[in-house]
Amino acid sequence: MLCKQLVIITGPCWRCRKFMKLAVTHVVGTGDYNGPDEFSKEELNMARDHGVFIKKQYSQTSKEIYELLPIAFNQKQVVEASAVVAVLGDLENIRMAEKIYGQAVDAGFMPADTAKSMVEHYTGMYSSMPPEAIRQIAYTDGGLVSMQLMLVTRAKGYDTVPIGGYDKQKFMEAFRISERYIPIMLVAIGKAAKPGHPTVRLAVDDVAFFNEMPKE
Ligand SMILES: Cc1cc2nc3c(=O)[nH]c(=O)nc-3n(C[C@H](O)[C@H](O)[C@H](O)COP(=O)(O)O)c2cc1C
Repeated sequence: MLCKQLVIITGPCWRCRKFMKLAVTHVVGTGDYNGPDEFSKEELNMARDHGVFIKKQYSQTSKEIYELLPIAFNQKQVVEASAVVAVLGDLENIRMAEKIYGQAVDAGFMPADTAKSMVEHYTGMYSSMPPEAIRQIAYTDGGLVSMQLMLVTRAKGYDTVPIGGYDKQKFMEAFRISERYIPIMLVAIGKAAKPGHPTVRLAVDDVAFFNEMPKE
């Protein structure tokens, strides 16, 4: 028989950051948690009897999470995950070149004069590149970084959901992200509440071609 628990914890109010009592219901043995917006009348009363002050706008523990939910079209993953990482592309990535090549020199992987000429070469190349080309590079790199983040997370025993379905314009405004960066992907990270759904992949022959393109 399923047993439901009312769990009361103390956490910070998203608005004033003061600690307050928060309530969730939990079906024992599952990863299913519900906040007060899904409580039955009895559960609301029970939480109130235990000192939880329930008001809809106070039912989120963090301002960021509260803001992200509607921006991600109310996809619950963004509030249920332990963390959500926003992968951004840096349109001024060339500004990091000196630091990166400097590190390679310090680590003994590259002579200083090679690093200097690399930095000069790429700085010149980027300064004459059309903004759209730089943007495309940032998207390509951002996709690789997102996948890498998911693989590393999985290797550490956690699960991820890549989220491309969010309002990127609103996200940039809400989190006050400068125009230097472009949104690539949100990656929700945590322990899977239930196993992922079974899925299929196209056969190699459908997607890989040797020295020719497929006939239309
Ligand atoms: C570009 C891209 C965007 C995605 N956006 C979302 C999303 O907004 N919300 C979501 O729940 N999953 C999103 N996913 C994850 C997919 O729903 C799915 O879980 C994932 O691709 C693995 O399932 P599959 O093996 O059937 O493709 C996205 C995946 C990709 C590749």
